[in-house]
Amino acid sequence: MTSSLGSSGTSNGGLGKASNAAKDEVPNAIEVDHIVKKYGSFTAVDDVTFSVREEEIFGLLGPNGAGKSTLIRMMTTLIPITSGKARIAGHDVATDPDDARRAIGVIPQALTSDIDLTVEENLSIYAKLYDVPAAKRKQNIDELLELVDLTKWRSAQTKTLSGGMRRRLEIARGLVHSPKIFFRDEPTTGLDPVSRVAVWEMLTNIKSQRQLTILITTHYMDEADRLCDRIAIVDHGKLVALDTPPALKASVPGSNVIEAQFESAPADWEQTLHTLSKVTSVQHEGAGMYRILTAEGSRTTTELVEAAVHANVVVKSLSVQNTTLDDVFVHYTGRQLRDELVKAHAFTMPSRPGTQP
Ligand SMILES: Nc1ncnc2c1ncn2[C@@H]1O[C@H](COP(=O)(O)OP(=O)(O)OP(=O)(O)O)[C@@H](O)[C@H]1O
Ligand SMILES: [Mg+2]
Repeated sequence: MTSSLGSSGTSNGGLGKASNAAKDEVPNAIEVDHIVKKYGSFTAVDDVTFSVREEEIFGLLGPNGAGKSTLIRMMTTLIPITSGKARIAGHDVATDPDDARRAIGVIPQALTSDIDLTVEENLSIYAKLYDVPAAKRKQNIDELLELVDLTKWRSAQTKTLSGGMRRRLEIARGLVHSPKIFFRDEPTTGLDPVSRVAVWEMLTNIKSQRQLTILITTHYMDEADRLCDRIAIVDHGKLVALDTPPALKASVPGSNVIEAQFESAPADWEQTLHTLSKVTSVQHEGAGMYRILTAEGSRTTTELVEAAVHANVVVKSLSVQNTTLDDVFVHYTGRQLRDELVKAHAFTMPSRPGTQP
């Protein structure tokens, strides 16, 4: 079985190739084969094929409405598949949904733990729901509370927890029946930067301690970059690229990004920037701001400053960075992921009476 595939009909240089060959003998935890989801005449997921190896953290990265949650819902037997197949731990989700369900833990995008119950009660209910034997239940809950750093809060009402703590409780709840494969839709949406890092560390720890396969969805590029072994970029229901974060970045022409803001630039300034050495693309972002991809940041920067002096253009700001997943997204879709996100409305955490961090 090939370990990574793209959706048919797309030309995606970022698809996993050599980097996967060495691990081909490891069985796949998830196999999605030409999967399609239609709502009436609208195609939410459009012929997507990929597989996730055991013990991998795999990310579905894409803007709002890309089809990430729909993919998770199909893989986790929550909605029927229009065509194609999904196998979870070897079980076909359409013909063998009960065995597929037993193998997985799922945490949906919305927070769903009961706020009027205590932390422990929320975990206990799920353990009973999944028929975890009574003797094992307490041990599992103790271990999980420790793992997500909520032991001190086991008797606290869930509504008194902070957003970050609730996310951690949901992670523990999804693991209460010791699944092999863990699906997490948007693990950190709505969290502050410190809580986000805490959730990332927690997921990484859990994976290493419990030999779990983890599939997350996210629209945060830094999250995908930091957390995932491999990333599938999804856009308008289609898989447009799939590989490790370094391989995806390497697949984009240019290795550095120069962000520069100019004052009193002439109308043909974008063309001038194109003529600088090693430049592979120039994007005008408005307000005198340009994003320039180059294969050699230092050389292009030197020439850029010289060109500005020559043309009497003021350089208001200048930064040189390595290529990011944002550039990868632009390369494969022609749009910027962060622009897509600005258009979308922000998710807000439900209000809470408690004041814990
Ligand atoms: N039950 C439904 N009926 C009709 N259209 C739907 C339904 N569920 C989802 N869609 C549409 O399918 C597309 C994909 O939605 P989905 O929720 O999978 O996106 P997403 O990538 O998870 O986005 P987000 O980042 O906002 O969570 C969207 O255009 C959405 O409006
Ligand atoms: Mg979603």
